[in-house]
Amino acid sequence: MTFDRSIKIAPSILSADFANFGAEIRAIESEGADWVHVDVMDGHFVPNLTFGPPAVKAFRPHVKTVMDVHLMIAPVDPFIDAYAEAGADILTAHIEAGPHIHRTLQAIRGAGMKAGVALNPGTPAEAVEHLLDLTDLICVMTVNPGFGGQKFLDLSSKIRKLRSMIGDRPVHIEIDGGVDPTTAPIVVSAGANVLVAGSAVFRGGSVESPAAYGANIRAIRAAATAPVHEPA
Ligand code: DX5
Ligand code: ZN
Repeated sequence: MTFDRSIKIAPSILSADFANFGAEIRAIESEGADWVHVDVMDGHFVPNLTFGPPAVKAFRPHVKTVMDVHLMIAPVDPFIDAYAEAGADILTAHIEAGPHIHRTLQAIRGAGMKAGVALNPGTPAEAVEHLLDLTDLICVMTVNPGFGGQKFLDLSSKIRKLRSMIGDRPVHIEIDGGVDPTTAPIVVSAGANVLVAGSAVFRGGSVESPAAYGANIRAIRAAATAPVHEPA
């Protein structure tokens, strides 16, 4: 994976049809997804439970782009090798999931994956100050993690702070939660370049009629790249 700071749309399969993950992954990629965002939840770190390494391994043959695995689990370290074996390209751990995020990021890279660190809405940008050379992606949660379809939390000042901290390092800023054509320009103008979207991509479509997925992805991308009109 070579780094470039272009805008990427990463649909979250949390909003997909749980009875048809393979077909849904193929559908969003054929409809323009740049990455596939996989939300792993353990029912402990977040109040929801999704899937684990065996499911992620089953998703892998259907993903032709990038499998961006977001771990909303605690602890993380015992599972790193399992997600590497499952084929994750990027593995993102929450900074709040344990006391040793520095070691976790080292272990993720050591297992051959790109390393991401996720920040819950209440965690300040400064928390990653000593991690910037150990991470390939910073995921800014713009909802409290656990569910799709929640209301967007505007954390633009945090995104701007992160963008200035990162400088010209090859580190993506990923936004996760409540991204749609209205919120996308807000976060991109603050410095983000990877946009996770679940409900805003999957709404109105289905495996049988995925055209809405493409229209939704194009709408988010168009909004993200349109200039934000500063209030007069
Ligand atoms: C929430 C997940 C998000 C979620 C986004 O805990 O990490 O990726 O699926 O869903 P929307 O885009 O519907 O807010
Ligand atoms: Zn996520």
